[in-house]
Amino acid sequence: MPMSRYAVFGHPIAHSLSPRIHAQFGKQRDIAVTYATVDVEPADLGEALERFAQQGGVGANITLPLKEAAYALCSQLSERAQRCGAVNTLTRVEGQWHGDNTDGQGLVRDLTGRHGLDLRARRALMLGAGGAAHGVAPALLDAGIRELIIVNRTSERADALADKLGMPKRAHSRYWEDLGSLGDFELIVNATSASRGGSDAFDLPFSLTNSRTLAVDLNYGEASIPFLAWARAAGCHDAVDGLGMLVEQAADSFRLWHGERPDTDPAYAMLREINPLLVTAD
Ligand SMILES: NC(=O)c1ccc[n+]([C@@H]2O[C@H](COP(=O)([O-])OP(=O)(O)OC[C@H]3O[C@@H](n4cnc5c(N)ncnc54)[C@H](OP(=O)(O)O)[C@@H]3O)[C@@H](O)[C@H]2O)c1
Repeated sequence: MPMSRYAVFGHPIAHSLSPRIHAQFGKQRDIAVTYATVDVEPADLGEALERFAQQGGVGANITLPLKEAAYALCSQLSERAQRCGAVNTLTRVEGQWHGDNTDGQGLVRDLTGRHGLDLRARRALMLGAGGAAHGVAPALLDAGIRELIIVNRTSERADALADKLGMPKRAHSRYWEDLGSLGDFELIVNATSASRGGSDAFDLPFSLTNSRTLAVDLNYGEASIPFLAWARAAGCHDAVDGLGMLVEQAADSFRLWHGERPDTDPAYAMLREINPLLVTAD
């Protein structure tokens, strides 16, 4: 019987922090964890997951750009994964992959728990409509935001996400080109990977913000600098990066695989030391 293995699949993936997070959780809970990284393109994901299962793979995290592809490969999906249309956690059950999505819960737990922020009644703007946006949108709506406007470089994906959410009175799509005429928001979430390509996507109008705006970047480390710098220049009240979400969603994946949720503070402190919040609002 091969050893139980865990891994994160993505492209690129070499710099993922997930192996360190799961190693910390395992040490804390006295559970031996073998957790690797697997670099794979979307078209090859099915084959790579089957190979992984043959080698003892029983649990996997899925990151960009594979979350929607992984959703399509699952034999069974949790209710929240179905609402998201994307998965970030796979569990091998009786020779099949079961999919779940812990991203949204991880984000909301970080914002409301660690940062003590109240999301209720906020008018929210989501930049991006990829796997991460799919993962967090239902949880933000459940957390009580008043309205969610989704804009994406490729507008059809924003339309598809808004349709999938199925709440025409609370979730809509708009064109990126129209950002200057959308009014102001109390929550702005950057769920794009734009900063990885050195683009000018964060030359955003300051009219999007007001004195209460919370700006959240799902990215962390250097990739969060452009959006958080914009948030600071625009005078946002709070600015948060995605490091806490990363740790919280990992803890929920750990619970799905090992049956217990670790304390996230030690892993968060360990990672914050090497990924300082480089740009903060006053
Ligand atoms: N902190 C965490 O735990 C956590 C969890 C999940 C994701 N993330 C981060 O969130 C980001 C998005 O991840 P994902 O899984 O959603 O990736 P994805 O599925 O590949 O989607 C990428 C998104 O970014 C947009 N985008 C890419 N380049 C852009 C540009 N130059 N200008 C404007 N938009 C651009 C894409 O728009 P198009 O549709 O037009 O291509 C799409 O909406 C990643 O950087 C990831 O690291 C963090």
